[in-house]
Amino acid sequence: MHVSVDSLALEKAAYELLALPFFEFDPQHWRLPARLTSLDRALGGRLATVLATGDFRGKRGETLVIYPDGGSPLRRVLLVGLGAERDAGAEALRAAAGTTVSQASARRAKTAALVVPAQRRVRLAAQAQALAEGAVLGGYRFDRYKTKRKDERTPVASFTLLAEPGDDLRGARAAARIGTILAESQNLARELSNEPPNALPPAELARAAQRTAREVGLRCRVFDVPQLRRMKAGGILAVGGGSSNPPRLVVLEHNAPARGARRPTVCVVGKGITFDSGGLSLKPAASMVTMKHDMSGAAAVIGILRATALLRLPLHVVGVIGSAENMPSDTAYRPDDILTTLSGQTVEIGNTDAEGRIVLSDALWYAHKEFSPQALIDLATLTGACSVALGKWASAVLGTNERLIDALRRAGEATHERLWQLPLWPEHRESMRSEIADVKQTGGRDGGTITAAAFLSYFVGDTPWAHIDIAPTANVERAGPYQPAGATGVGVRLVVEFLRNWRAARLA
Ligand code: BES
Ligand code: MN
Ligand code: ZN
Repeated sequence: MHVSVDSLALEKAAYELLALPFFEFDPQHWRLPARLTSLDRALGGRLATVLATGDFRGKRGETLVIYPDGGSPLRRVLLVGLGAERDAGAEALRAAAGTTVSQASARRAKTAALVVPAQRRVRLAAQAQALAEGAVLGGYRFDRYKTKRKDERTPVASFTLLAEPGDDLRGARAAARIGTILAESQNLARELSNEPPNALPPAELARAAQRTAREVGLRCRVFDVPQLRRMKAGGILAVGGGSSNPPRLVVLEHNAPARGARRPTVCVVGKGITFDSGGLSLKPAASMVTMKHDMSGAAAVIGILRATALLRLPLHVVGVIGSAENMPSDTAYRPDDILTTLSGQTVEIGNTDAEGRIVLSDALWYAHKEFSPQALIDLATLTGACSVALGKWASAVLGTNERLIDALRRAGEATHERLWQLPLWPEHRESMRSEIADVKQTGGRDGGTITAAAFLSYFVGDTPWAHIDIAPTANVERAGPYQPAGATGVGVRLVVEFLRNWRAARLA
């Protein structure tokens, strides 16, 4: 989808669908915004007639379609509700743009436009970014496996934001481009996460990373089993050992330091379990469905690095993906096994279904040792307990550096990929010590998200680190305004927003 910004007179606009967003209003006291009077005249007063009925009040998510007469260059006018003006931030704009594109696509309108609403104290550039994000995200569907009836919807080819004459179109266009890059990168993460596990084993996920690296100019290295053996990556090898689809470690780099160039380094690590059956500690049948999404952290890392490269962020950003398929077999790792991880620390296995933290222990240690970053962030669908604690509305964040956590939480508010902090205290760390090895893999039933993070903390050394548990948010059962059912691509806009504000985070 091509997103553009323009400022032509609305009555001259020729789109298959033109969306008019409205803040919530009282139908007793409605009046037509000045911006719309000439459009209303061109529509024979139909806009005013509809608003007077009270059938549409601008509530968040509300829509109504008006069909102009043959004389108008417009085919459809879509009224979209933004909700109460005082609550209408970036998220309301994403939702309105997503709804617009979704409705346009369902009506096979290939060209859509949306009038940027007048908002006090909100810059046009901020509006343009949010609207572009919502439009591009709202246009995403996972339909590559549908061999029939693909034509029920048609993708929207062009989406135009209509600003007011005299507005700063240059700034708005730059912002819309940023929003488009972010959303396309998030859609890439969604696509990878939605791929079925038979199509995307670890080697394929690694190939997807290489393909993206080639497209946007990232450095990419893939470590296969013989290399992982040489490195002594005992965690990744153990988790991958039960499957005939071998594991991989993938490293993506933006701005790999050239001689003399010294930029701050941030590492982003992703859990890439392409299917989580639980292994020998097998999951019940119903819990296994959706476990193709257990590589959503890795998918987000690929999306983050893509956006980072296209936005040319002035940082050295490294993505590290630990990928394996967690399967039961006679070569699978077992409960009671003691593994020697890449860090040299030994781990006593309690449950092979806690595989994510094992893969991450090697990936985190690799990032810490190899790059000594100023900040280390990991994204992982790590614990069902996280959904028990927070519901589906937030990811959990825990870590060793409060500034890093605060900066991530701010990015979470700005992107609406919200984070909620859980504690990580010395007592939690102590509880993960083993009687017969260095560290225990699993804690008890209580505080499952925290004990998982406490385990990970043994593998980050003294690097400032934050862990983000995206188990609640990586995929959804029900669609939202700019989100179809399935993978969300959560983490991409969040972490890139954090990286774009790197200086303000003042970590280094
Ligand atoms: N991938 C799961 C976590 C998960 C569960 C994500 C449900 C999304 C939805 C993870 O590997 C897992 O199985 N964790 C176990 C840990 C337990 C064995 C300590 C869990 O949450 O039950
Ligand atoms: Mn598991
Ligand atoms: Zn898992």
